[in-house]
Amino acid sequence: MGEKNWLQVPERVGKNIIMGQAMNLLDGVLDYKELMMGYACAIKEINTKFEVLDTEFEVRYKRNPISSIETRLKSQMSILEKMAKLGLPPTRENIENNLNDIAGIRVICSYIDDIYLLADALTKQDDIRLIKRKDYIQNPKPNGYRSLHLIVSVPIFFAESTKEVKAEVQIRTIAMNFWASLEHQIKYKKNVDHAEKVIARLKECADEIAHVDETMQEIRAEMDHIQEKPTDMEALYEKLKKIDINLM
Ligand code: GTP
Ligand code: MG
Repeated sequence: MGEKNWLQVPERVGKNIIMGQAMNLLDGVLDYKELMMGYACAIKEINTKFEVLDTEFEVRYKRNPISSIETRLKSQMSILEKMAKLGLPPTRENIENNLNDIAGIRVICSYIDDIYLLADALTKQDDIRLIKRKDYIQNPKPNGYRSLHLIVSVPIFFAESTKEVKAEVQIRTIAMNFWASLEHQIKYKKNVDHAEKVIARLKECADEIAHVDETMQEIRAEMDHIQEKPTDMEALYEKLKKIDINLM
């Protein structure tokens, strides 16, 4: 007999135990994949809903309320960290019941009014259920953070079942997003000297940015208001231009 392969499990019993552990591990991994699939599909559904609204606006009013959309699926590490913070074992049930932001959709708009317009258009859809609404524009966070947050659930239709899946939707202007992105980066820089000063200056920037957003909104409202009534020829030309809008 040659040398024993060290990978070989000598006892039949031992082999069974290892097989059992491997099966359990695989079951866990597959269960996790299945869970994440639901959230990935919720992102696709909600993303499409916003794209539809943007296309509708483009065709009807020749303008795009949405500047861009960012989506993200929470990483496994962030899920585990969050569950540890909540002091709960990371079971499927606990994750589903306690985390609202595994599926994340961030919609970046041109104007403040567009935020509310899109939020209303989304939440009044028959299949969308609004779970929570946090208006950090009307009530900014003490650090100056502004955004409209919606926790919603959407049904996902699979081949043999339907599942209600939760998602966090953040809607903000380009200006609010600019501030939040930089503030997020700065926040993660450790050992900042004069931290309090930095916080105060960031707050000042947030308020200045909010002021710019409001002014831009006013300017647009005024421009809409003073727009002269088009001549018949201009109206015809505008209609013809709409036909050329690329719908795909
Ligand atoms: P978590 O922060 O996810 O634990 O949830 P929460 O229930 O406290 O929700 P909240 O609505 O306060 O924030 C959720 C998300 O909004 C965060 O994950 C960020 O993406 C964003 N956000 C909230 N506050 C800030 C902030 O002060 N700065 C920045 N840059 N982003 C923020
Ligand atoms: Mg979060």
